[in-house]
Amino acid sequence: MTIKIKEPKRIVIDTDPGVDDAVAILLALKHPNLQVEALTTVAGNVDVEHTTTNALGILKLAGRSDIPVYRGADKPLERKTAHASDAHGDTGLGGVALDTEGVDTATGEAAQFIVDYTREHPDEITLVPIGPLTNIAKAVTLDPSIVDRVPELVIMGGAEFTGNITPSAEFNFWYDPHAADIVMRAGFKKITMVGLDATSQAFMSPGTRDLLRRLQDPIAQFIYDITEEYADFYWERRRLVGAELCDALAVAAMVDEAVLEFVDANVEICVDGLCEGRSVVARTERYRDRTKNAAVGTRVDTKRFFELLLNTLFPEHEAEMAPIITHEYR
Ligand code: RIB
Ligand code: CA
Repeated sequence: MTIKIKEPKRIVIDTDPGVDDAVAILLALKHPNLQVEALTTVAGNVDVEHTTTNALGILKLAGRSDIPVYRGADKPLERKTAHASDAHGDTGLGGVALDTEGVDTATGEAAQFIVDYTREHPDEITLVPIGPLTNIAKAVTLDPSIVDRVPELVIMGGAEFTGNITPSAEFNFWYDPHAADIVMRAGFKKITMVGLDATSQAFMSPGTRDLLRRLQDPIAQFIYDITEEYADFYWERRRLVGAELCDALAVAAMVDEAVLEFVDANVEICVDGLCEGRSVVARTERYRDRTKNAAVGTRVDTKRFFELLLNTLFPEHEAEMAPIITHEYR
């Protein structure tokens, strides 16, 4: 697959690594059309101490400790805290401990950094939240005018027709529904919402995991290792075999429009009650009186997604991986 080189999109990833966050961050670091300028961390999959340590470790593993990490919110705005350690392991990376010797967070809190950095670089920084939206909501509360200087928000979160933490709510929005509500109503110029309807199609097959093990590559081995327990979770809880790479799809959607289709929608968030954390997606082609506030992901070209992911991460193996990818996602 040829990757068209254009002016890289400057991004800040807000993240709760997290197994699929780790894959998303590695993809973003390697893709020539993305320029990762900072990571901001948030509590979600696991506590913010671990998500922050994991973010530092992922950057060190990738040789990118030049990228600053700003630690963020340690709990939701109003809701009681929670976690997803059943899927991601107690420390967030499936029991894998990364080397963080000699690296540390940057000075400053995540939400304030987001406000300041987007002020210093107006209309330049795309925010990519792939965890609960607590930091983004805090940034909006600190400075509501932020919505005028952020060109796009690319969110992994929500769903049109399904849920994963409850039958009607996706984890990131469920973990902090008040934050999701603030963000969806803030008036950002462009929100791209990559929800579960799409990410359920970005499901790494067992054959792909086995391929990773055989590449004799430290990053491939890392992804293989961190997805071991994650895959066990999908079997034990969902009787699915493989691993859903939710966050990586959000990153892929930024660099290849053909990976994911979208519909225009008005998205509202249920902040409490039975459907707490649910994103109510009203497609504006159907609900013509509603105002669009997001583009919501629908159909995925799964083979194209995995070609993008694997060829970006392991370009030297493109030829030998091609027939395997075709077979796995035919
Ligand atoms: O529901 C999937 C989302 O929740 C992903 O971002 C995953 O990392 C977890 O945070
Ligand atoms: Ca995440």
